Amino acid sequence: KKIIIINGPNLNLLGKREPQIYGNLSFNEFFETIKAKYPQVILEHFQSNIEGELIDKLHEVGFLYYGIILNAAAYTHTSVGIGDAVAAIETAVVEVHISNTFKREDFRHHSYVAPYAKGIIVGFGLQSYELALQSFLNPL
Ligand code: DQA
Repeated sequence: KKIIIINGPNLNLLGKREPQIYGNLSFNEFFETIKAKYPQVILEHFQSNIEGELIDKLHEVGFLYYGIILNAAAYTHTSVGIGDAVAAIETAVVEVHISNTFKREDFRHHSYVAPYAKGIIVGFGLQSYELALQSFLNPL
């Protein structure tokens, strides 16, 4: 099973960026841990700060992979194009956010991805990604 984590803008700064909100761990440190913990799946990671690159990646994997874990970051709240890409592809997408976006500014309460996502996991820190992964591995 191939599952990819796709991270949007500014998530390359995890660990350095507003640590009171997003924590001290870099994504790569976290990613190594999670890969070791779930050897039964082929886990990949892609990050881009560029909207079109995120759309291209969704197209590339969206008819091939078993699952997509998508944190579109700020584009969640702005990008009709990313929402349309999620609607267009066949692979199930679980939307994740590190912070509880509903506890934050109003502009973070709307998601262009959510209507097309299989489900949404919000506010559990980096564990949000692990919970999304488990949702693909242990469907009830
Ligand atoms: C985020 C929440 C977004 O509102 C914000 O723009 C991000 C990160 C999160 O994971 O908590 O960059 O997606």
